[in-house]
Amino acid sequence: MQHPPIVLEGYRNLHYEIREIVDFGHALQRLGRPITWENIGDPVAAGEKVEPWIKEIVADLVAHDERSFAYCPSRGVLATREFLAAEVNAREGGTKVGPDDILFLNGIADGVDKIYDLMKKDARVLMPSPSYPTHTSNEGKRGDYPHLQFKLDPEKGWLPDLEEIENKVKYNPQVVAIMIVNPDNPTGAVYPEETLRGIVGIARKYGLFVICDETYANILFNGGETKLLSQVLGDDVPGLALRSMSKDVPWPGSRCGWIEMLNRKASPAFDEYCDVLVKSKMMEVCSTTLPQMALPRIYGDPRFQALKARRAKMFEARANQIYEYFRTVPGVIARPVHGALYYSVTFEDGVLRPGQTLPVADPTVRAFVEKSCEGVAPDKRFVQYMMGSEGVCVTPLTGFHTDLNGFRLTLLNPDDAERARTLERIGASIRAYIGA
Ligand SMILES: Cc1ncc(COP(=O)(O)O)c(C=O)c1O
Repeated sequence: MQHPPIVLEGYRNLHYEIREIVDFGHALQRLGRPITWENIGDPVAAGEKVEPWIKEIVADLVAHDERSFAYCPSRGVLATREFLAAEVNAREGGTKVGPDDILFLNGIADGVDKIYDLMKKDARVLMPSPSYPTHTSNEGKRGDYPHLQFKLDPEKGWLPDLEEIENKVKYNPQVVAIMIVNPDNPTGAVYPEETLRGIVGIARKYGLFVICDETYANILFNGGETKLLSQVLGDDVPGLALRSMSKDVPWPGSRCGWIEMLNRKASPAFDEYCDVLVKSKMMEVCSTTLPQMALPRIYGDPRFQALKARRAKMFEARANQIYEYFRTVPGVIARPVHGALYYSVTFEDGVLRPGQTLPVADPTVRAFVEKSCEGVAPDKRFVQYMMGSEGVCVTPLTGFHTDLNGFRLTLLNPDDAERARTLERIGASIRAYIGA
């Protein structure tokens, strides 16, 4: 049957390399090539054990509170929003909120969809490069636009240049907001307070709001210090802080995230936009109830602070092991990182060239890799050859909407010895591929 195109213009721009590279890995597995997965940021799937006291809280709710099976209010469970509003209000120097300024979502990814979908078609959001692709894809899909981005520079510890941000805002009057991820995925950068205040200053000067994805706010190490968005906005710049239970409990399967809608009354247009965010959640009735009910009992438990400290130490050791390894590998740039769950390595300019390959013993696997490399970005070509040759899956950096070639691996493998072996396998692949 012949149909005219069905897909909405712009939705062809939806790319999520973190998962797309998995399809390639599964195809290799079907051809008999075992794969070591170093790509997806799910701590539990990677082998981290959820603390028994957290499981007890969830089990207790399921066993003794029928409300955990019911719908909850569209904005979210009131007692939990009160708990979160009190947390925001207790922050030093922070913007004040009420429980109705908190909106629950089925994971931040659900919120990211709404945040961009509900904006006018020609409204643009300036965001980093590299960038977490859920933000870039959802922003870009509305109008088939090229992405509007500022650079995170590995040579400057993956931090942005405020002058570039201001120029991009100045010369693109359609920009209504600046988005950042802090701590950042994929770079592991942590924005110093001064940089955050600089970005807020630009938003203030040009009448914008700020979106800060704080999914990794509880994962800081190596002396990484920052502030939360609510602490740097003052009382006049509107903002959305995006929070999640996925990575710090960790409970990614809870699909439980929330938005702090900050300084709503500072701008009628922003206030209306927040109302529409709430209404769009009403159309779905509500977000999942059980994790919301567990939230105050988990984050309010003194054991959570101990868990946070233990995990920070653990991720610090892994991030430093990865940094120490890659700083000695020729042809790549590696920098210390200060937060989140990832490590990004970039290739130096000019080291990736057409025609570079790695030996793939099995001829069927080799033919599949060769075919799959036609027309792909140079870093994806390297990654696909490494998967065929060594069986290690990382995510190509260009999948994060950047011109920088490189790859991202996670800090999640709990097995230190296996991680060391994986690093050796990646390092050997880089050396062989670039002929160093
Ligand atoms: C920066 C960032 N934002 C949002 C998400 C998705 O979070 P959630 O599980 O709450 O949807 C992720 C997941 O990796 C992420 O890295």
